[in-house]
Amino acid sequence: MRVLTIVGARPQFIKASALSKAFTSLGIEELLLDSGQHYDDAMSDAFFRELGLPRPAVSLAVGSGSHGQMTAKILEGCESFLIKERPDIVVVYGDTNTTLAGALAAAKLSIPVAHVESGLRSFNSTMPEEINRRLTDHCSTLLFCPTRTAINQLNREGVSSNIKYNKLPSLQDITDRPEFCMSGTFYVGDIMIDSLHWIQKNNRKNPPTLSLPDGEYGLLTLHRAANTDSDKCLKYIISQIKDVSQALKIVFPVHPRTKSALKRIGVLDELANDRNFKLMDPLSYGDFVFLQSNAKVVITDSGGVQKEAAILGVPCITIRDETEWPETIDAGLNKLVGSFPKDLRDTVTNIDIAKNTQLDCFGDGRAADRIALIIDRWWNDNRDR
Ligand code: UD1
Ligand code: UDP
Repeated sequence: MRVLTIVGARPQFIKASALSKAFTSLGIEELLLDSGQHYDDAMSDAFFRELGLPRPAVSLAVGSGSHGQMTAKILEGCESFLIKERPDIVVVYGDTNTTLAGALAAAKLSIPVAHVESGLRSFNSTMPEEINRRLTDHCSTLLFCPTRTAINQLNREGVSSNIKYNKLPSLQDITDRPEFCMSGTFYVGDIMIDSLHWIQKNNRKNPPTLSLPDGEYGLLTLHRAANTDSDKCLKYIISQIKDVSQALKIVFPVHPRTKSALKRIGVLDELANDRNFKLMDPLSYGDFVFLQSNAKVVITDSGGVQKEAAILGVPCITIRDETEWPETIDAGLNKLVGSFPKDLRDTVTNIDIAKNTQLDCFGDGRAADRIALIIDRWWNDNRDR
């Protein structure tokens, strides 16, 4: 069997690195297509080097653009490659423009699509990611859900038919139960946990080289369109963060989108020269996880960072109106404060997060092994049909 993995954005390199290792251990041949949606070294190539991802068989180098331009260019590039290579299955991750374009190109050529991180919803259709993830789920053949909430959502949308899993399947379940792979929708756990465990193990060998502020700090990441595209919203968020920085120093690895936006509203130099802030370029995964583990609080609008903070037991404040990861809120590990957070300094100072909560809803760090085994099993059951 030959798998084509389609990636293009930072979190996809991180997730794909876990599944790549599982494919290798099962002897499954994998090709990689990199759309080039993210292209700065620190947003792309650095992760290939750090995480041991295979070199891409093809790089479309689509770069940035409007949603329509990016999606169309990736769709066209994927289609040409798929026609030439005819892989047996295509794997896509998450909810970016690369995800949707890759899935659509494959589905239209009747090549089965496996969607990793399926069934997540924000229920906010103004978010480009919500459109991408819904459409991808609806044209995929194998749907790999990180949580039970995600499975239930696919049941509600009729994408899957009343699948119920109370617990994660063991690898033995997948191998021994002939009916297991028939459903097409699977509760496998969250693949980012696999990557997190891998980097925690490997970080010890490569200690981070970061110079951090003395004492406690809050870690900030921002990149959502809703927060960065509107001057009014971004100015408001920054004024609130500046207020927080009077009480707690802020370490801020800046996403390239946000760097342009901070320049646009005229505060980039001011923040870079502010002693209460430490602005950085985007970090390697190892350095970022190290920073997260040692932060007093994480303030973010990232999807992946909310989960990682919860797993690492670091309080998280999410600058969004909703989240695809309600489990983190229910467990008392994450607080949604919206895009116009009021009195953020008070929220940060008084944050009372349930420490020592056992968060098992994201699985056991073996999602990649399950996914690789299910794909292998499914292929062997269906190859002659
Ligand atoms: C994208 C995804 C988002 C994901 C995020 C991960 C979509 C719709 N959004 O958002 O779901 O959470 O990636 O980080 O697919 N830029 C650079 N260099 C780069 C990459 C981007 O300068 O290497 C700048 C460009 O000005 C670009 C802007 O960042 O226009 C936004 O990049 P884009 O990939 O469109 O969206 P993200 O905000 O990164
Ligand atoms: N991350 C990283 N370096 C950084 C910031 C984030 O390696 O400077 C990692 C982070 O640990 C997480 C992932 O990138 O695993 C989250 O990606 P991002 O916030 O870009 O996207 P999202 O998860 O919101 O789609």
